[in-house]
Amino acid sequence: MSADGQSIGILLSGRGSNFCAIADRIAKGDLKAHIDVVVSDKADARGLQAAREHHLATVFVDPKAHASRAEFDHAVGRILQDHAVDLVCLAGYMRILSPDFIRLFQGRILNIHPALLPAFPGLHAQRQALEHGVKVSGCTVHFVDDGVDTGPIVLQEAVPVLDDDTEEALSKRILAREHDLYWRAIDLVLSKKIAIEGHRTTHR
Ligand code: GAR
Repeated sequence: MSADGQSIGILLSGRGSNFCAIADRIAKGDLKAHIDVVVSDKADARGLQAAREHHLATVFVDPKAHASRAEFDHAVGRILQDHAVDLVCLAGYMRILSPDFIRLFQGRILNIHPALLPAFPGLHAQRQALEHGVKVSGCTVHFVDDGVDTGPIVLQEAVPVLDDDTEEALSKRILAREHDLYWRAIDLVLSKKIAIEGHRTTHR
């Protein structure tokens, strides 16, 4: 660990607003950590551009240049290891991780999901919530295990679903809460204030 805290590697596929929210909290000194590398599977991800603007190391790993998901993940894992990251944060990373990658970073991968898991895992969580008719949804930060959005939950926050919500309006309301939730979860994990016990996390 360096003087400015532990090292984070970010994986993202798109806009990167969660990544930016984490970077802002680091810049403000709220989160004692540093982002060592931002990796994307999309060359034109807006989040990669934002990372360059933050003067961070960025790497695009081309899925088409790898024969399998395992090979692709192996390449990503090497990059994260080369940067000696302590924690891998998925921030809108739209790929399922291979079992070897999860094993490599066992207990050190976090994901943010725009629903109150275990409700509405997978894609289009906000649309699923609207279609189901729930009155409350929200966001979840959880450790990644080998299921889809199934790992031990670190933090959750509820967000009301309004009668006139569209998918876009609900997504925007949830996203605002995601931005305040993710860095807090990262802080809990990096400062070892939570323990994983079976499928639960508890505050030490
Ligand atoms: C966020 O809403 C995040 O929770 C979601 O993608 C969005 C990424 O936004 N992730 C998933 O749905 C993962 N299953 P961002 O690129 O602006 O951070």
